[in-house]
Amino acid sequence: MFSAVMEANLQKILFNEQTILSRLDEVGSQISAEYEGKELTVIAIMNGSVMFMSDLLKRVTIPLQIDCWSISSYHGHKSTGVINFRQHEIADVSGRHVLLLDDILDSGLTLYTIKNKIMKETKALSVKSCVLLSKKVERVKEIEADYKAFEIENEFVVGYGLDYKEHYRNLPYVGVLKNL
Ligand code: IMP
Ligand code: MG
Repeated sequence: MFSAVMEANLQKILFNEQTILSRLDEVGSQISAEYEGKELTVIAIMNGSVMFMSDLLKRVTIPLQIDCWSISSYHGHKSTGVINFRQHEIADVSGRHVLLLDDILDSGLTLYTIKNKIMKETKALSVKSCVLLSKKVERVKEIEADYKAFEIENEFVVGYGLDYKEHYRNLPYVGVLKNL
């Protein structure tokens, strides 16, 4: 039992910590193989990808650089459709390959906007993306993740970095929130 107070608000657990880590072993190997011999910068979208970034990158065995971007786009259960970049300076990725990390791909608005910003404003050689979760929903923007650890139905999930109004991020697993 992790936290009775937080667990009381969950309908079910979707992926426990061991399941997540085993899958990240596989994704980490895939990324290590794909970027072998290439200059790689991982850009992690905060706060949602904090746990994912840390556990995944321990499993990537090639040299890389990390930049964390603080972005907000979502409030409560519904995407606001507006992406706020809270950061002014970004890492120099000229001549480097960029891999974006995010907790979840839902409407696609967040990844689409960030990917376009990097492609327009930098001289990155490539921009790919990797998400912990991909929701099986129709995307508002045409984008798919190049790597996804798990696919999920259209349910609102929390834990392992994912929040509902900034709560539940520290749960070590992914669960479905009860209908509030
Ligand atoms: P998108 O822009 O609609 O693809 O949504 C991506 C962002 O919305 C993610 O980075 C999350 O912060 C948030 N989000 C989308 N679905 C969920 C969910 O089920 N639980 C928690 N956050 C979510
Ligand atoms: Mg969020």
